[in-house]
Order: sequence, then structure tokens, then C-alpha cells
Amino acid sequence: MEIIRIQGGHRLSGKVQIRGAKNAALPLMVSAMLTEEHLILDNLPYLADIQTMTALLNSHGVQVNRSKPSSADDRRVSLNAERISNTTAEYDLVRKMRASILVLGPLLAREGSARVSLPGGCAIGTRPVDIHLSGLSQLGAEITLVDGYVEAKASSGLRGASLSLPFPSVGATENLMMAGVLADGLTVIKNAAREPEVVDLSNCLIKMGAYIQGVGTSELKIEGRKSLHGASHSVIPDRVEAGTYAIAAAITSGNVELLGVFSEHLEAPLKMLEQAGVDTHITPRGIEISASKRILASDIATNTYPGFPTDLQAQAMALMTIAEGPSVITETIFENRFMHVPELIRLGADINIKGPTAIVRGVKGLRGAPLMATDLRASSSLVIAGLAAEGETTVSRVHHIDRGYERIEESLSVLGAIIVRESV
Ligand code: EPZ
Repeated sequence: MEIIRIQGGHRLSGKVQIRGAKNAALPLMVSAMLTEEHLILDNLPYLADIQTMTALLNSHGVQVNRSKPSSADDRRVSLNAERISNTTAEYDLVRKMRASILVLGPLLAREGSARVSLPGGCAIGTRPVDIHLSGLSQLGAEITLVDGYVEAKASSGLRGASLSLPFPSVGATENLMMAGVLADGLTVIKNAAREPEVVDLSNCLIKMGAYIQGVGTSELKIEGRKSLHGASHSVIPDRVEAGTYAIAAAITSGNVELLGVFSEHLEAPLKMLEQAGVDTHITPRGIEISASKRILASDIATNTYPGFPTDLQAQAMALMTIAEGPSVITETIFENRFMHVPELIRLGADINIKGPTAIVRGVKGLRGAPLMATDLRASSSLVIAGLAAEGETTVSRVHHIDRGYERIEESLSVLGAIIVRESV
């Protein structure tokens, strides 16, 4: 087992390169299943979830080749789905990563049938896939649930339809978009998700020959094609990784430049930081975050894009634990995304949960303690809090953090944090 050990109280300063976005890279990898030709993806991060997706795609017969680790283009991956050899996504792979459900749409569109394990619940909530399934049925798939698997068939192909999503689900929008690009006729997705990762997938599909109108809006019009062709695409920078390092800079009264980010993807988090008294400014290479005064309390409510991202809620809460005054943090996307709260309380934070709301009363300082990570973003919030806490903090179960951050301890060390990973 590995743990992260932090000696808190050191100011972060310097520059950090932001990597390709996990949540854009995963659906982009799946989109390779829509063509018999090569899809080349650049700026792919080195993450556990990317390895899981590689294993899943391999299990369907998709070849995934990464350039050599030390070469100039070592973040380039070539994917080829000339032949899909298996249409079943097994439980063992799907349970590791919910994004596996994204193979359902492409398998149905390309092969006319798919058998994909239901992902089940996870630490942050029950997370059903009903919106994915009802959309695919409206596109003509016959869907049954058998022994924990979704069995879907579209023997005579998928047919375009007008879909109105009950909630702008990111994954459902991506799944239905990938089904729609090879369906017969026009598919309209109303109340579609507008997250930058959905836009990145649309842009890649368009490069592959898909016809999609309304990219970045809540109504997508997709004219199905008989087939798609190969393309090259570069994954967008990770707005959640960038936001995490920005908050880490703020909590340590630091000065950090985030290199290679798209500031337009971070409007709500940057606004929160400014309200908290942190200076943010756009530089030619990214965004500079600079904090010198005590953090001011700031109320936060998560929302779909362009609202405040749920994937930064835990990290923002860590920041508010040492703010001047009380803040109210409301989670509107997931039903159970406060797993970090008991751990932050172990560091001396004053937090009370009432339903979807956490009331955080800022304390003067946190004190280090042993902590346990429960999910990806919760674990990064514990690292952030540990950077500010006096003395030593250890975070166990760090495999969660490796799902979405590339060697976080190395990046933070370069910025001046005293942080190491240890095998115990
Ligand atoms: C994506 O998950 C991200 N994952 C999540 O990031 C992110 O938190 C989430 O979008 C919201 O932004 C990937 O992109 C791989 P949703 P997804 O479908 O697609 C409910 C991280 O830490 N819902 O928009 O699963 C669902 O239960 C992860 O990187 C249904 O009820 O999110 C949730 O409450 C965690 N039925 C809400 O919608 C459905 O069929 C949002 O889910 C689908 C979703």
C-alpha cells in the first residue's frame, strides 16, 4: 500500500504544467471504436484510468499504442478499431471505472449489439445510467437487463430521433452523441451537457467526419453518417487538475503559474478564488495565482458547466476550512459527495452537513493527522488541506488520487511542498 506524507506549512511557488484532461481523454479514446481507421490522440495524460480504459478497449479488440515514454511525442497514442472482436464489457473492468459505460453507444452503432456490465454504485452516489439507456432505446435499441448486464441490440441499425434529456448528464450526452453519429438520419439531443469535455469529443468526432451542429450549446443536432474516418486530435488541458493546483497555491499563500490551461474553462473557480481574496491573472502561458492575505469565506454551489464544477467542490471546501468567516457549500450534482468532510474534521476543520449543504466555519489553522482517501477528488482535497496544516499529515489509499492526477507529489514538491510517497 502507498501513502502520501506531507509536512505542512510551506508556501508553494513556481510553475506547474497542466496535463491533458482525464474526463476528455476517456470518451475520446472510446470514440476510436467508431472507425476502422486510426485515431491519433495527443496530450494523453499518464493516469490509472487511462490504463483501465486501454485494458477495456483491448478487450474489445481495439489496438492502443503509446509512443515511447522518453520520446518527444510520448503523450501520443494511436488507437485502431479495424475489427471489433468482442462486444461484451466485463464487470471486472467496468466496476473499476464508470466511464466504461461509454462503450455502449459505439458498440451498438458499429456492431448492432452490446453487452455491458452495469457499473453499480460508487463512493459519491448511486449514479444510475437510466438516461444513457432511455436515449439509446429511443434511437431504436432493444435493451434488457440480465444478470447485472445491459444487453442491447439494434439488429437493423440505430435510427436518429429527437431526445430530450431529463438532466444534462455528461456521460449520457457523450454516449448518445457517439451513437448518433453513425445512426440513420437526424438525432437531436435537447438539454445536452455543455462541459468542455463534451465539446472536445464533438470536435474530435467532427474531425472524424461526423456532422454535429450546436457544439457547446444545450441542443445538439447530429446527422448520422454511414462511417467515420481516422483523425488526429489533441486532448484539452485538465481544468480540474488546474483548479486543484490553483487552490493548493491559495491555501499556502503561494504564487503559482498554471501553464497551458484554457482560462475560459475555469471562469467559475477563478471567480470563487477572487471572492476569497486571491489574485488571479492571465499570463501569455497560462494563469498566475497569487495569495498573500487570509482567505475570505465564500459561498459555493456546484452546478453543471459553466457553473462551479462538482469535481472541485472538495478542494474548495479544504480552502474554506481556514477562511475568515463561515461559508455555505452546496453540492447539487451528486447525492453523497461529502466523504472528505469527516477527514477534514480530523485536521481541526469546523464543518456541519445538513442534507446537500455543508456549513464551514473557518478556523485559524489546521493540525496534521493521518487521513484516508475515499475517492479521487476527496483525496486531492486532503492533500491540499495537509499542505496548510501544521505538522505531519498522511493520506492513505492514494490509488484514488492516481486515477486523475499524474504524480501529484512530484508536481507539488517542485513547487516547494514537503511531500513524499511511501510504500508501507
Ligand atoms: C462525469 O461523470 C465525470 N466523469 C465526473 O468526474 C463528473 O463529476 C461528472 O461528469 C459531473 O461533471 C467523466 O467524465 C469520466 P453525469 P458522469 O452523468 O458522466 C445523474 C471525476 O472526479 N445521472 O453528468 O458520470 C448522476 O447520478 C469524476 O473526475 C442519472 O441520474 O456524470 C449524477 O447525480 C467523478 N442518470 C448526475 O446525473 C444517468 O443516466 C451527473 O452525472 C446519468 C447521470
